[in-house]
Amino acid sequence: MRKKLVVGNWKLHGSLLNNQSLINQLKQDLHGLNWVDAAVCLPYVYLFQAQQLLQDSPIAWGAQNVSQFTEGAYTSCISAKMVAEFGCTYTIVGHSERRALKLESNQIASKRLLHALHAGLTPIFCVGETLDERDGGMAEMIVKNQMLNVVYGLDDEAFALAKKFNMVIAYEPVWAIGTGEHATPEQAQRMHAFIRYMVSERDPEFAQQVRILYGGSMSPANAQSLLSMPDIDGGLIGRAALVAEDFVEICRIAE
Ligand code: G3H
Repeated sequence: MRKKLVVGNWKLHGSLLNNQSLINQLKQDLHGLNWVDAAVCLPYVYLFQAQQLLQDSPIAWGAQNVSQFTEGAYTSCISAKMVAEFGCTYTIVGHSERRALKLESNQIASKRLLHALHAGLTPIFCVGETLDERDGGMAEMIVKNQMLNVVYGLDDEAFALAKKFNMVIAYEPVWAIGTGEHATPEQAQRMHAFIRYMVSERDPEFAQQVRILYGGSMSPANAQSLLSMPDIDGGLIGRAALVAEDFVEICRIAE
């Protein structure tokens, strides 16, 4: 039985003041929630604040990305080791918004994944197709190519770390992100089962453990139908994570 995981990706939102009230609300409302893991991924500059506010709570925190470099003359980059120093459990890797800005190819995402694992972080590795790719019947091929980073791109040592730190996969159809149009539970389930099958090609045991989150306009209104599918182990939530009541409601539904 896989414990559900609900992660809020705050993207480019937040201020010291707003974060404080959102986090305090989440702490209060998620207190005592058992059968679900909850986390928030904030902009780098707020990781210290998250650490201060969340360290005595069951809510974990994480970064939205890490650099493909470990150290050196790379102005503005933030390494996995650096975010780990702020107590992060998670980091998102390969989010489609990074891929769309052409800042992240499969190869770069693969390097980031590796550095995250070596820093002891749990990567939330994102995959997903665009609308054109889906309409062109290429959704599975695109996801397969992205998943190759995980399935064959990690050497044995890195794959052992992925298992140790419970690497997470997030299926985020690009056409569903921030659009209000979510994948149907059946569409999402089909892709999640395919992703689990791909992981099983490398390690059947880990395939049963790995949590595969759905992301793309998940809300309290559709969470129940999505989260009741057998291979959907939680959500990566954007817009709804900025409203405490909505995020808490999704966590309750996941439980
Ligand atoms: O990382 C989160 C996803 O991109 C989903 O965002 O819930 O606003 O569609 P959304």
